[in-house]
Amino acid sequence: MARIVAVINLKGGIGKTTTVVNLSAGLALKGARVLLIDIDAQGNLAMALGVRSPRTLYEAIVDHKPLADLRITARPNLDLVAADESLLLAQQAMAGRADWVRVLEQLVRPLRQEYDFIFFDCGGSLTVLNQNALIAATEIIVPTTVEPFSVAGLEKLITQIGRIKGSTGVVRAIIPTMVDPRMKQSIQLLAHLNRIYGRLVMPPVRINVRLSEASAVGKTIYEHDPRSRGALDYAQIVELLSKEWNFQPASSSPARSPQIRAIAGVPRGEPLVTGDGEEQMSACPNCGHALQRATVAGYRITYCLNCRYRRQELIRNER
Ligand SMILES: Nc1ncnc2c1ncn2[C@@H]1O[C@H](COP(=O)(O)OP(=O)(O)OP(=O)(O)O)[C@@H](O)[C@H]1O
Ligand SMILES: [Mg+2]
Repeated sequence: MARIVAVINLKGGIGKTTTVVNLSAGLALKGARVLLIDIDAQGNLAMALGVRSPRTLYEAIVDHKPLADLRITARPNLDLVAADESLLLAQQAMAGRADWVRVLEQLVRPLRQEYDFIFFDCGGSLTVLNQNALIAATEIIVPTTVEPFSVAGLEKLITQIGRIKGSTGVVRAIIPTMVDPRMKQSIQLLAHLNRIYGRLVMPPVRINVRLSEASAVGKTIYEHDPRSRGALDYAQIVELLSKEWNFQPASSSPARSPQIRAIAGVPRGEPLVTGDGEEQMSACPNCGHALQRATVAGYRITYCLNCRYRRQELIRNER
């Protein structure tokens, strides 16, 4: 049964779509079967993945077509139901229905057996569709920038989630995005987030121009520059969430396919995005906690969940 993951923040332009793309692509590369559903009328998800779809979510909502007839394959293991501005009309149609808040839940139900994860890429306000996504979600991920207004908005969003879902227990992760580690304010606000939300707060995704380039050319960060900070940061989050979700890559994982390796520039025989678990006998030089390890595209990242210590090394000398 697929986990249904809503990626939401009521602020615009804070990295929701970038997070959906690179989290889901990382999971797909690890062998998960993933469906993405764009519920934002801007339709950025197809653009960010560099694909075009002749069909959109509008047809499911207004013409009652099954989602299975509307999806396209964006990458191996990564399917997409795209959106465009027609979604604005679809929302008006939904608002008149008695069951308006459960439309998405009903649409995804027949597909839950086919996937490990179904992601909703939400728009930046509490639309009818976003409320639907929250109702359907079994997991909620909240990307947020680390600025005072964003952090205040996050608190309000979590309260709203509690009202809509009856509990905030479904909030699975808060992902700090576009973080500039040189800014004192960012570091202070990160510490504040860690104090309030504890282990829900993922390691930050640093500001990285490679991420914005990747979405501009319709590639995931693993395809565009697997050695970039953006790839390492997102890969690390993929590892942490895979662990949290108990997701084990299947032995027939397409991450082993030569085609995917060639795209990402991964040497033969090396894992693309795999978690190696706890490093045996290795303690963080800063705080003494057990170190974790992940490998992305030929780099091994060793990191500490307690104090944010991180080290990265190339597995091979030549790439
Ligand atoms: N860590 C990052 N470093 C640099 N640029 C980033 C980062 N994350 C996202 N971006 C860029 O910032 C812009 C906004 O990101 P994105 O589209 O993911 O936000 P969004 O929250 O989905 O926006 P919207 O509310 O409009 O849907 C994009 O151009 C994206 O490429
Ligand atoms: Mg978006």
